[in-house]
Amino acid sequence: MDCLIMKAAAKINWSLAILGRREDGYHLLQMVMQKISLFDKLSLSLNEQDSLAFQGSLPDNQENLALKAWLLLKKELGLSDCLKITLEKEIPIGGGLAGGSTDAAAVLKGANQLLNLGLTLEDLQEIGVKLGADIPFCLMEYPALVEGIGEKTSSLKAFPVYHLVLIYPGIGVSTPWAFKAYDKLAQNPVKIDNKMMIDALTAGDINLIKQNMKNHLEDVVISEYPIIGQVKQALKGLGLFPLMSGSGSCVFGLAENEKQAIQAAEELNGRWPLVKKLETI
Ligand code: C5P
Repeated sequence: MDCLIMKAAAKINWSLAILGRREDGYHLLQMVMQKISLFDKLSLSLNEQDSLAFQGSLPDNQENLALKAWLLLKKELGLSDCLKITLEKEIPIGGGLAGGSTDAAAVLKGANQLLNLGLTLEDLQEIGVKLGADIPFCLMEYPALVEGIGEKTSSLKAFPVYHLVLIYPGIGVSTPWAFKAYDKLAQNPVKIDNKMMIDALTAGDINLIKQNMKNHLEDVVISEYPIIGQVKQALKGLGLFPLMSGSGSCVFGLAENEKQAIQAAEELNGRWPLVKKLETI
């Protein structure tokens, strides 16, 4: 095999609880995370030199997590191979959907396969977390309870499919900024019960899921970016239950069923740069 074509899925946070802070400033989290049907597309092939070609606007090559992931893997294993990576972006940047991390995870998995490196999931996660706290989850196939700074992942049994409307309001939110704002401004964060969330998601209990959809970063991010609150209101107005994903800016609305999600997406289409009916995977 000399070329691999891959899809890298975006993620949502059904919940995001901040439990504390490490000395290095990273936050200790507890989150229920799942992938959704929004994908970047990548191809990997052996090449004379390392290169990255992409469609859409991205930071320059060295800053791109996909190429960084390959260069890190290469360094850690002392490899001499070179890879050409092509990347087609669909996942909004700065949207709280782990767009960069999922590309990096796909490159790590793909290189492992293409070059027969024999690395386990745990090996890849250990390398991945050095580049981004969401990468260990992005390497997994199933929903997960994610803890620590993102490096402790417990795979959960597949949930029923949930129908969502995802909205990108057209602004990017910086993750370091969001955590700093939380440290400065957050007051009495609500209690987040991830055990109950997992039970609700497993059982397909939409009402109980809604009660447990909470994100400790949401209030501070909305106070700086009111457009995110407006997106939430619009989804609520159509009967969906909205939550900001990760550190924002995307909001997903949980629908009661597929029909409601399709109708809401049609209704809201055109109001923001991305309005999409999706489902969990
Ligand atoms: O690891 P990642 O690049 O996703 O994190 C971006 C920034 O978000 C970190 O530099 C840190 O400021 C903040 N962060 C944090 N606690 C986490 C994950 C990220 O404070 N668990």
